[in-house]
Amino acid sequence: MKKILVVGASGQIGTELVVALRSKFGNENVIASDIKDEIKPALQNGPYEKLDIMDASQLKTIVSKHGITEIYQLAALLSATAEKHPDFAWKLNMEGLFNVLNLAKEGTIKKIFWPSSIAVFGPNTPKTNTPQYTIMEPSTVYGISKLAGERWCEYYATQFDVDVRSIRYPGLISYTSLPGGGTTDYAVEIFYSAKRGEDFSCFLKADTALPMMYMDDAIRATISLMESPKEDVKIRSSYNLAGISFTPAEIAAAIQKFKPDFQITYDPDFRQKIADSWPGSIDDKAAQEHWGWKPNYDLEKMCKVMLDNVLEHDFQGS
Ligand code: NAD
Ligand code: SER
Repeated sequence: MKKILVVGASGQIGTELVVALRSKFGNENVIASDIKDEIKPALQNGPYEKLDIMDASQLKTIVSKHGITEIYQLAALLSATAEKHPDFAWKLNMEGLFNVLNLAKEGTIKKIFWPSSIAVFGPNTPKTNTPQYTIMEPSTVYGISKLAGERWCEYYATQFDVDVRSIRYPGLISYTSLPGGGTTDYAVEIFYSAKRGEDFSCFLKADTALPMMYMDDAIRATISLMESPKEDVKIRSSYNLAGISFTPAEIAAAIQKFKPDFQITYDPDFRQKIADSWPGSIDDKAAQEHWGWKPNYDLEKMCKVMLDNVLEHDFQGS
């Protein structure tokens, strides 16, 4: 019997991942956990545990109490927040992963999902259709922690036969839960301004292309990778994954098709330097060939669903 623990369940990805996993495997078989006391309404239809992922003994107690067989370890500081708190970001992003990898090494956990990011690439990486294997050299604390994490995942997989699976998520766009401090957050925030009929001030320049993806595609990719036969998962560091690539000017133009009066202005801040170090688009041939990945959402379809669903008062500006 599969029993899943999702760590960082109250976040942008976790909230939707728990909902999807519960509908597939049953509410009682998916335990949501987060460092937060408050349980979000979307997570209230099944078990919840308050957990600090850096506390290995608390993690062990929860795993044993629920007979957990799989962990999705999502808790981390994202790129922009990590630049403000580099020491803590390194500690959280690495210790959280090690605590989970070590449980799997002992044999308690059968399968792990741990997300990496396009942030593993750096200024010397080819920017267009960035290949799976290429120059990495990330220049942010977040990217360094994700690249180190990838190397440890592959090490645990090859040395200790740990079944760890990972995706280098692009910037994720969703309306259920707000993003948690990343460089790609503008591509979510823009919809709240558009919905309110306000102009949007973008913290990146007009022509900054970044790889992005609508959340439904990201959740489908995650569950598809986790449910693939073990032998199909040939990459144990992390898979490149592509969805939609666009610039702030291009997403603004796509929104204008639905909201002709919408206007964007540009006021780049410290996040511009982070974005400049990342790829503009991603080559995900390996994910397509190994476990059949194919995205469903293009820019227009994503804009329509976001504008139809964002609640204008949920986000008032960063
Ligand atoms: P988020 O910031 O929205 O959510 C993270 C959650 O982790 C929060 O609910 C937070 O309370 C929780 N958390 C923080 N510290 C914790 C701790 N010590 N113990 C337990 N929980 C703790 O992040 P997200 O966007 O949902 O991202 C989840 C993962 O996916 C992260 O590893 C992130 O690096 C990765 N990722 C996200 C994106 C994206 O665009 N959202 C892109 C690439 C990779
Ligand atoms: N969306 C994430 C960020 O901007 C990418 O990992 O930090």
